[in-house]
Amino acid sequence: MSSGEVVIELRDVVKRFGNQTVLDGVTMEVHQGEIVVVMGGSGCGKSTTLRHMIGALHPDEGSVRIFDRDLATLDEAQLNEVRKQFGILFQSGALFNSMSVADNVALILEEHTSLDGSIIDMMVKIKLELVGLREASDKFPSQISGGMKKRAGLARALALDPKILFYDEPSAGLDPVTSAAIDRLMIDLTRKLGVASVVVTHEMDSAFTIADRMVMLHHGRVLMNDTREAFERLRDWPEDQMDELDESQRLIRQFLRGDAEGPMTEPDSVEGDYAADLLGVDHSKLTGGRSIQTTRMVPHMDRPGFIRRLFSRLGGRAS
Ligand SMILES: Nc1ncnc2c1ncn2[C@@H]1O[C@H](COP(=O)(O)OP(=O)(O)OP(=O)(O)O)[C@@H](O)[C@H]1O
Ligand SMILES: [Mg+2]
Repeated sequence: MSSGEVVIELRDVVKRFGNQTVLDGVTMEVHQGEIVVVMGGSGCGKSTTLRHMIGALHPDEGSVRIFDRDLATLDEAQLNEVRKQFGILFQSGALFNSMSVADNVALILEEHTSLDGSIIDMMVKIKLELVGLREASDKFPSQISGGMKKRAGLARALALDPKILFYDEPSAGLDPVTSAAIDRLMIDLTRKLGVASVVVTHEMDSAFTIADRMVMLHHGRVLMNDTREAFERLRDWPEDQMDELDESQRLIRQFLRGDAEGPMTEPDSVEGDYAADLLGVDHSKLTGGRSIQTTRMVPHMDRPGFIRRLFSRLGGRAS
């Protein structure tokens, strides 16, 4: 799945807010046609990483390249051209409540293309059909369920035929069945449209269902970056062979399994603090990050309007 060209490349990205180093040398790549899941404890820098990818934040050090263009070298107009190739699914779907589902999708096309109304109508139908929501096109956001809002948000994200889709916590607030349906849809769209997808999620079931590759962040560093299969091996590592794993691998294993017991939760252990930290439980006691790099990190490499407002909003603190 990762045979496609590199569409996103983060190289040694450092980001500081005040005296807090939020990203501490993040290097990762996303290839055309693959789903990369970014995970890790709360506050480890997942959303900040995503915001760098969409150019809503710029690194203090290092570089972010999209389609082989360094975002830092682009002016605002060029950046907006690049952003037109992105589709972003917000946590809430971020629909306009005063407009029908169809009009929410149409709005993007009206703002960013000069297509005829009849063609826009047809394109809206196609997008809604893609996400299985055509029958709800005349409904208002208040009249549809959380899962349907996600679908509508996704239809809107797809409006301009993006090459990269970004999702931040797509299953947040959904029941398991709806969440599984959204997982299916993400896989489906990635395969059908050949796009690259970057998904930030806490949900391990979802991560293992959708990911081609997974990146585990911890305190703004990449702790592990590898295929889903490699993460699965670690998750399913037999209990009686634990002595073959080093402490960090055991911690990642516990994180992946969501186990209540393990090195993360052992009292009075320094590594236990580290583990709690990994889960975002306690940020104050980290004693030093060991790093596992199992990855084969091959060094590969306007219109001011709705999209810009969206991106400037994403530059803020809100997830
Ligand atoms: N604009 C900002 N200004 C200052 N600090 C920020 C800003 N954005 C993020 N941070 C800090 O950076 C750290 C990482 O935040 P980020 O939102 O990337 O975490 P996350 O991994 O997405 O967490 P969560 O799982 O809770 O969404 C946090 O400590 C957060 O408070
Ligand atoms: Mg976040």
